[in-house]
Amino acid sequence: MKKIVITGGTGFVGRSICERLFEHDSSCRLVVPTRRLVNGRTLQHLPTVDLIECNVHDPKAMAALLDGADALVHLVAILHGSAEDFDRAHVQLPRHLAAACASAGVKRVVHVSALGVGLQAPSNYLRSKAAGEAVWQQALAAAGGALTILRPSVIFGAEDRFTNLFAKLQRVFPVMPLAGAGAQFQPVWVGDVAQAVVNSLARSVQPGPIIECAGPEVMTLQQIVQRVGSLAGCRRPVLPLPEAAGMLQAAAMGLLPGEPMMSRDNVLSMRVPNVASGQLPGLAALGITPQGIDILAAHFHPVDLRHR
Ligand SMILES: NC(=O)c1ccc[n+]([C@@H]2O[C@H](COP(=O)([O-])OP(=O)(O)OC[C@H]3O[C@@H](n4cnc5c(N)ncnc54)[C@H](OP(=O)(O)O)[C@@H]3O)[C@@H](O)[C@H]2O)c1
Repeated sequence: MKKIVITGGTGFVGRSICERLFEHDSSCRLVVPTRRLVNGRTLQHLPTVDLIECNVHDPKAMAALLDGADALVHLVAILHGSAEDFDRAHVQLPRHLAAACASAGVKRVVHVSALGVGLQAPSNYLRSKAAGEAVWQQALAAAGGALTILRPSVIFGAEDRFTNLFAKLQRVFPVMPLAGAGAQFQPVWVGDVAQAVVNSLARSVQPGPIIECAGPEVMTLQQIVQRVGSLAGCRRPVLPLPEAAGMLQAAAMGLLPGEPMMSRDNVLSMRVPNVASGQLPGLAALGITPQGIDILAAHFHPVDLRHR
């Protein structure tokens, strides 16, 4: 491939994907639209990345960006907001991008979705992500294109907001009050998700249109928090909160300025297990043996609490 457009390429997962795509083929131009150039500073070390300030919701601007591209990798998503915000980001945006792909003649799309999506799912995030998948499926079927949908469980990595937040909180607080403590996840390493994108694009024959990206271990949220605490050398007792208390906690966080750590919609998402169904192909079908969460040991520098 000569040119790949990566929407959401400046984000946590997108950065890893750009790195893996560069390692795979250092002659392929990687075009990354961003709302603000400063958001792409962590891509500066990749010489083939072309960071372009652009509104991804603008079909004309995106059609121009997609002109001559061999593929689109789509990652833009939000975790917080109103039902309208989720619809705009997860349903209307794929619709606009699919139209832009059609007018630019781009017929290869990899869309990063999430495990647990469903039109009847308990949260706006999961319902709108399911509707977004349907938009891509219909559009690519109509255009005679090829679509791969990747559905990851929660993604960990040295730069994630998830395990790093749990480590930070356990360094500060003596106990960890936790909503959704029993919720099930199958944490997957960001490098494996990035490799899944590379392998999907590199393969002429796909194992299936939907790939479940899950790690080797099913873990409850409480187990994840405790494992992270052990890896970071600051493990604290977990105090499981009932869902109602979690909703109150999330509502209070929503009143604080900036991006909330947890929203009511996030709490609702945890009602459904975020684990592979086993009914669809997984990472193995793309030739990937997934890493477990313990590879973060090298990232966390244990803090000796006896000296605090
Ligand atoms: N992280 C996980 O645990 C996880 C788990 C399952 C699925 N996923 C999926 O993986 C994908 C990537 O997730 P991530 O964790 O890498 O997300 P992220 O770090 O929040 O990055 C999101 C990206 O989307 C862009 N973006 C965000 N809001 C936007 C908006 N309102 N308008 C336009 N662009 C916007 C941002 O680009 P700019 O700021 O540069 O404009 C950023 O590059 C998402 O589709 C997500 O649903 C993630």
